[in-house]
Amino acid sequence: MQNKLSSIAYQPPGQFEETRYEKIHNVIFDNSVEGSKVVAAEIAQLIRDKQNKNERCVLGLATGSSPIKVYEELVRLHNEEGLSFQNVVTFNLDEYYPMPKESIHSYHYFMHQHLFDHVDIKPENINIPDGTVPKSELINYCIAYDKKIESYGGLDFQLLGIGRTGHIGFNEPGSHINSGTRFITLDPLTRTDAAPSFLGIENVPRAAITMGIKTILQAKRIVLLAWGNSKAPIIKRTIEGDMTSDVPATYLQKHPNTTFVLDEEASMELTRIKTPWLVKDCKWDKELIKKSVVWLSQQTDKSVLKLTEKDYNAYGMSGLMAQEGDPYHINIQVFNQIQHTITGWPGGKPNADDTYRPEREKPHQKRVLIFSPHPDDDVISMGGTLDRLVSQGHEVHIAYQTSGSIAVSDEQALKFAEIIFKYQPENKTVKKLITDLQLKDKPFEDTIEIRRLKADIRRHEAIAALRYLGVPKENIHFLDMPFYETGAIKKKPLSQEDIDLVQDLIAQIKPHQIFAAGDLADPHGTHKVCLDAIYAAIDNLKPESFMNDCRVWLYRGAWHEWDVHQIDMAVPMSPDQVLRKRKAIFFHETQKDGVMFQGNDPREFWVRAEDRNRQTAIKYHKLGLADYAAIEAFKRYYF
Ligand code: F6R
Repeated sequence: MQNKLSSIAYQPPGQFEETRYEKIHNVIFDNSVEGSKVVAAEIAQLIRDKQNKNERCVLGLATGSSPIKVYEELVRLHNEEGLSFQNVVTFNLDEYYPMPKESIHSYHYFMHQHLFDHVDIKPENINIPDGTVPKSELINYCIAYDKKIESYGGLDFQLLGIGRTGHIGFNEPGSHINSGTRFITLDPLTRTDAAPSFLGIENVPRAAITMGIKTILQAKRIVLLAWGNSKAPIIKRTIEGDMTSDVPATYLQKHPNTTFVLDEEASMELTRIKTPWLVKDCKWDKELIKKSVVWLSQQTDKSVLKLTEKDYNAYGMSGLMAQEGDPYHINIQVFNQIQHTITGWPGGKPNADDTYRPEREKPHQKRVLIFSPHPDDDVISMGGTLDRLVSQGHEVHIAYQTSGSIAVSDEQALKFAEIIFKYQPENKTVKKLITDLQLKDKPFEDTIEIRRLKADIRRHEAIAALRYLGVPKENIHFLDMPFYETGAIKKKPLSQEDIDLVQDLIAQIKPHQIFAAGDLADPHGTHKVCLDAIYAAIDNLKPESFMNDCRVWLYRGAWHEWDVHQIDMAVPMSPDQVLRKRKAIFFHETQKDGVMFQGNDPREFWVRAEDRNRQTAIKYHKLGLADYAAIEAFKRYYF
């Protein structure tokens, strides 16, 4: 992957190696931080070039999660490298309608919070569609917005995100290529995606004002950002599919100077990434062979051991045939590789040959440290494996990284407060808690006491679940990492204090196994920050001798699952174990029945987890392996 801030990594359109599948220039970075820095650098360069010519720089700007790091970097460039915005004029893409400017949900608020309040832009140069314009004046207002852009000579640069509907701005499916700025009804999927920050879909506005497709396409330069695996399908559709009003972002195929800036996860479905053998000659290493053979088996609906030379040739894998010669040799090699990932002994099997097992035999009793970003990810994502580790005699510790307090609703908190009050009617703190909860009208403005109560509720749900699975109380650790404790959706950046908490616990336990959430698709980013803290801690501890004897395993499950070719350890579950896992998840009562942070999947966590575990088992069976009820999957992290 390209991750260097060099011109090679960011060639302008026209000079890129087009594949026969791709219709839009795109660049893939290791992560969103790297990609955002490069985009911010391009914007900064444009502003400076214009300054040198005494010209205005007209920027089209987007909101949402995608551009946040670009704005952070622009603010840094302003503070540390003297980048001035005095010659900058901005036009934002859109605004919800109706929407007062001062609302925390307004794009007006967002832009000031993330960019305008921190740079020297002239207030009169800021243009954001106004969500308070009376309906009767909307048409004229929108025409005037386009005219104003024209009067500035058009947009020099347009920054875009993309919605899962394929919208750019709020140009939802059905938008016409010639559309100008206008009033538009939001697609239900767009409203679902916005629901967490509005605390429920019923609070999300139904309409918006958006810059039109024509307005966007007239920009001299366009950069679209997409991060994370939830964007992968729409990115593939937009870059490789036909141009259609059903996916408005495909209109960008017509624009001669557009670049999509992606991270690895968002690029995952592109043909050249997912199945590179269909695009070019490949260097066939063990990993690529496994990935391609699993894919071939899924395409042909044949088990691995039944694949023939004809299949390999018909599906663009003749290069592999040429290299390896014999299909049966490849089939057996890959079959064995997958077979060796399966183990009912996630902590290693005592007195058994461990040459081909995912875990070592010794020591027989291992110290295991399971990190869980929220108090429930442990049982949701690896409840079956946790159960086995305990019953197979390992010393299992669980560390809950955050309190998870904001995911407890006020109604749930009130219920618990009322129970305490029943037993302690004289307790003034509880009485105040009840009044505060009853009077509260703003969702994310919990008092410290309310937050503490909510955290305690989650803590005790976790303790109950682990009691059921047989984990002793002294092995349960609540880290309450400070980055999370803002009482709001937006978290603080990861600090040394956060990393130290994780690091100190690892150093104290000296685990033989660490399990961590590698589940980076959670909608509010906490899992990613929690994993970054673990990676940083492991990096610092690497020189310690106990780390030579420690293996790190990454689990997924709450939001998505590892692909079969990525799995290094597959722990099967019997039907009874599936039920035990379900019961353990049920102890997390406040996270049932339409939780606040549902993400893209409307199903409850236990349903999602069971379905994913069952799907993994089906996939293994279809490849020709044993037929299990469910499988939990892990990928090894090498440090
Ligand atoms: C925002 C906008 C939208 C977003 C898109 C992606 O001004 O116009 O098109 O860019 O909905 O949103 P995020 O970045 O939050 O995934």
